[in-house]
Amino acid sequence: MNKQAVVQRILKGRFQHKRTHGQGFAPSNIALCKYWGKQNDELNVPTTPSLSISLGKWGAHTKIYPIDLLEDIIYLNGQKIDADSAFYQRLTTYLDLFRFETKTHFKIETDINLPVGAGLASSACGIAAVVKALDNLYDLELTNQELSILGRLGSGSACRSFWQGFVEWQVGIEPDGRDSFAVPMSLSWPELRIGLLIVNRAEKTVSSREGMKRTMLTSPFYSEWPTKHALDFARLKQAIFDQDFAMLGATAESNALAMHALMMTAWPPLVYSEPNTLEAMQTVWRCRQKGLSVFFTQDAGPNLKLLFLEKEIELVHSIFPMIEIIAPFEALEKIC
Ligand code: PMV
Repeated sequence: MNKQAVVQRILKGRFQHKRTHGQGFAPSNIALCKYWGKQNDELNVPTTPSLSISLGKWGAHTKIYPIDLLEDIIYLNGQKIDADSAFYQRLTTYLDLFRFETKTHFKIETDINLPVGAGLASSACGIAAVVKALDNLYDLELTNQELSILGRLGSGSACRSFWQGFVEWQVGIEPDGRDSFAVPMSLSWPELRIGLLIVNRAEKTVSSREGMKRTMLTSPFYSEWPTKHALDFARLKQAIFDQDFAMLGATAESNALAMHALMMTAWPPLVYSEPNTLEAMQTVWRCRQKGLSVFFTQDAGPNLKLLFLEKEIELVHSIFPMIEIIAPFEALEKIC
């Protein structure tokens, strides 16, 4: 089954009404237990489950307008995006799945309040917000499960961006991925904080899609990943149930480092870290030796996300004055 067939199956008979425009917001999400590898490359069905935390008000606000032109027009943070850019190509290819009336093109206005393409999950929230805006534009009344599946087709991790808080993406067993969607964990942890440590705002040169493929095909250690991952996944869930921060932080950090070790052993090697990334990691480790409970996670980019508790804000901030601190469980009812 291809993407178009999945979209048609979900939207069959749903497409009736059209507003002048649709809009939607989706938070960015950071994986504590990573998605890195696919069993179905076309449909983004993962090899392992993953577990993330959403970033509250940090994410994408998107408006979508059907237009009578021969191509899409995309604005990102107020700037018109060049039709040759990777961002434009990626989004229009995704929109091709939703051109219900022949010739429908769209004007998209999206505001993402995070650096784009730098491993801060901007594609996850970007795609999820587009799905929500399309749902709103056409009054599709999709369930969260359906939204999650549609998001997954655009960017795997987007399937976790339809909820706030902790979110789990299950692999599923169906070959067409109909049971591969995310579900929220109804557990909150108000004291949890995430510090965005931006080392470099530039867009990454190797996409997650390409990086994942290369790692799976060439890293001699990829076969070990599901075993390590299953252990981390179980530990993380336990840590969340028990509100055991040391366990959560250590497991998330170890999972991220294991993923980056796989990337480094791919060929050609894939190293997203930069000198400042390693320096920040060493500072985190020194802090821990001195008794400060701070950990990090890292995605497909040089930037780190620090994990710590509310009571450590001042100390962490004094060591990393440049971080943006996010309280993922704060005022969620106002955001969702
Ligand atoms: O959804 P993608 O294709 O952008 O891949 C995301 C990969 C990681 O961010 C590294 C891990 C994850 O689970 O989000």
